[in-house]
Amino acid sequence: MSAQQMLLFSPDFQHPPSPPNGTTESPSFEVPEQEYEDPFCVPGKPSVVQFADITSAAFKIRDGIVRTPCMKSHLSELTGMEIFLKKDFLQFTGSFKERGASYALMKLTTEQKSAGVISASLGNHAQALSYHGQRLKIPVTVIMPIVAPIMKIQSCRNLGANVVVQGRNMKEAKLIAMKLAKERSLVYINGYDHPDIIAGQGTIGLEVVDEVPNIDAIVVPVGGAGLIAGVALAVKTLNPHIKVIGVESERCASFSKAVENGGPVMLDIESTLADGLAVPMVGYNAFATAAPLVDRTVVDKRRMDSYCNLAVGRVGKMRRRRSRSCWTGSDFSRTVRRTKRKASRIITVRR
Ligand SMILES: Cc1ncc(COP(=O)(O)O)c(C=O)c1O
Repeated sequence: MSAQQMLLFSPDFQHPPSPPNGTTESPSFEVPEQEYEDPFCVPGKPSVVQFADITSAAFKIRDGIVRTPCMKSHLSELTGMEIFLKKDFLQFTGSFKERGASYALMKLTTEQKSAGVISASLGNHAQALSYHGQRLKIPVTVIMPIVAPIMKIQSCRNLGANVVVQGRNMKEAKLIAMKLAKERSLVYINGYDHPDIIAGQGTIGLEVVDEVPNIDAIVVPVGGAGLIAGVALAVKTLNPHIKVIGVESERCASFSKAVENGGPVMLDIESTLADGLAVPMVGYNAFATAAPLVDRTVVDKRRMDSYCNLAVGRVGKMRRRRSRSCWTGSDFSRTVRRTKRKASRIITVRR
């Protein structure tokens, strides 16, 4: 544990035992064949998140998360319009996922807090839960598939979570997590579809509208659609004129497919550099909340494999109107580097 973490976390709190650093826990869990139902995410009975849920999340999590800046970017010069970037990579674990994770943990009952929570994640949600679980003294177990980045696995261990590396992909990891949740009476917290997660992510939208006047459009990367659902609900409630544009890679275009299909549909996805976006099916609650509010979803058809480039390219089409745009997401530095390199191409991207 780093010196900084030691300052933040009370030394008397212990999570359930984790395996030694750098090793994976012995694979003692079979991948269950049976599907387990998540009571918070029921097919055919979606919960539509309300604006009041987001304001209540903003109030509850205000001491545990960073109110990140939304600053004008030098991408503005490249594109001839005003682009602002919401720098949520400045959260302690490097992503906006902390907002939803901390709100979901704070909403648990006393009994649920002492039993602990479980989730399956490739990394960002797992780190967010681990960090806030340690901060709030709530035991956290994360099932991470074997394809999860080793740095993120290690980071969750460093944050004291009980980390199980198991399952060939997210689908298998989730089945294992749901089974364990049932057997051990743990609350399963879906990283993009639990209503409290969506409400927590929506606090980004409140902050953006508060910080940047006269926004024309907000561009949001889409994985399981929790982020876009919360952000769209927040910004459209505060200012219905703001356009909300989702971006996703053709390799995992689960939101666009859900729009075509009239509801979430399971896809065979391919891997992408933007690993957080590789979700084969958007969430039921996320889709029901987001679908009526999202103006447009843009899919990268040329396999550029970067939602970041795509976002700027598409927004670039609006430059004649001198739009003022905001862009949420946490991959800021890589985004800017890649964008600069490909600048001339980006602004000429055509449909
Ligand atoms: C950096 C980053 N951006 C965007 C997303 C997409 O969020 P959601 O799954 O809520 O759509 C994720 C998901 O993990 C992420 O990690």
